[in-house]
Amino acid sequence: MKITHSAPLIAISFLLAIMPAASAESGLNIIPEPASVELTGGVVRLSIGSVVKVEPATRELGEYVASLLSDASGAVIEVREAVPETSSGSPVILSLDPSLERLGSEGYQLVADHGGVSIRGSAAAGIFYGIQTLRQLLPSTIENGETALAAWMIPHLKIEDSPRFAWRGLLLDCSRTFQPVSYLEKIIDLLSLYKMNVLHLHLTDDQGWRLQIDQYPRLTEIGAEFPPQYRKRGGFYTKEEMKRLISYARSRAVTIIPEIEMPGHSLAALAAYPELSCTGGPFEIYPFFKGTNIQRNVFCAGREETFRFLRNVLDEVVELFPTRYVHVGGDEVPKDNWRECPECQARIRDEGLKDEDGLQSYFIRRIEKFLNSRGKQLIGWDEILEGGLAPEATVMSWRGIKGGVAAARMGHDVVMSPTSHCYLDYDHRTISVEKAYSYEPIPAELEPEFHKHILGVQGNMWTHIAVNQAATDIQIFPRLIALAEVGWSAGGQRNWPDFARRLDSHHARLELLGVEYYGKP
Ligand code: ACM
Ligand code: ZN
Repeated sequence: MKITHSAPLIAISFLLAIMPAASAESGLNIIPEPASVELTGGVVRLSIGSVVKVEPATRELGEYVASLLSDASGAVIEVREAVPETSSGSPVILSLDPSLERLGSEGYQLVADHGGVSIRGSAAAGIFYGIQTLRQLLPSTIENGETALAAWMIPHLKIEDSPRFAWRGLLLDCSRTFQPVSYLEKIIDLLSLYKMNVLHLHLTDDQGWRLQIDQYPRLTEIGAEFPPQYRKRGGFYTKEEMKRLISYARSRAVTIIPEIEMPGHSLAALAAYPELSCTGGPFEIYPFFKGTNIQRNVFCAGREETFRFLRNVLDEVVELFPTRYVHVGGDEVPKDNWRECPECQARIRDEGLKDEDGLQSYFIRRIEKFLNSRGKQLIGWDEILEGGLAPEATVMSWRGIKGGVAAARMGHDVVMSPTSHCYLDYDHRTISVEKAYSYEPIPAELEPEFHKHILGVQGNMWTHIAVNQAATDIQIFPRLIALAEVGWSAGGQRNWPDFARRLDSHHARLELLGVEYYGKP
């Protein structure tokens, strides 16, 4: 963070006195680190008598600020379009400001001075992130509403801030362990607190199909529950639940990206509709990995029924999710069945494909064409490079960074989520918080002209081992918070000791938010 002190020393000492975890530099503990902070001397007082001043366009954001500040005793902060003379605390002012377009749609300016706290941005997302910064400038006790009659001091300052990367994501595996909607909402809140903007939901896999599809009811009748002997609960999201979740995420500046896996990791779909496989089944889903993460029964790439099924499923997915991207998996596809399947072999011959890798490429290209015809962009794991990348595809680089580098050099967009730093299901000895924090999403070997193709960074939380919410929290936190800073803050600003110090001050906040985290005493 670039810090400029124009405050008289006496004011700074006062600040240090009221902010127990103050650093020598700025006294602030904001994560991710803002692009620039200027302390201007003095403090502004917000209190339960403050109002949130809004315009029609920022009213919804104003209600959100009021809900953050209002306390458990029932005291409420009013949201108004004018500040009444009688108000007893300084206002929080939210305004859209087209002159801040230079900061991008997610950038904001936060000014705390004699006039109160003013948060401006050229779009709602920027103002939303300014509110998250305000939230972190206030004591963590605001998180559980223990703020009765509180008067909060905020140093006079000016923050200008915008993200380094557009994609700052978390994958949550809802297949191996079904994640209830309430947990997804909690995760969305936490993503937004740390200015992350993508929740990638892994909705289908060998261990479960988790999304209602009207044309194929067996997907959730058969594919969403484990056989009784496993004593593990499954579940799925109805379309109504998913619609509400998407809308909730939007109110937190988070986009939900659905992942519908193909052609591999599809045993739950095949258990419901075995005619879509090469062998005809029957199949049974199971809750755990059987020795390996990968099993050989995948969608048959020779049968037209497979493509008809996937088009119909994706039509419903596209209608439900407003996002530009649909993730189609594409990883870890054993080709054994394809080698032995007459229909798959006929497809290879008829289409003049080289081999089974060519067949995988054919599969993904065909799906891409369909998604493009619906105005959507295909994203897949880096295996979709094998046998030839679909022309418009975006690549998620997970087996290291090689796939990401190759795709970017071909002019494709890339999201970096290598196992080395971004796999949150890995144990904490293998990937420490410090290691996650050290991740640089732009590969050193990538030529500067291709850097623009690196959209950002994503942490991936697979849930074959972490089977309850506490265990899932502990895998995600606090490593995801380190990745949040990797995705938002300028690369040159990375400073581990300072991050570790700021992170310490967030533990109390996480506890009040009901979050388990690794390293909790
Ligand atoms: C993956 O971890 N198989 C994408
Ligand atoms: Zn086949």
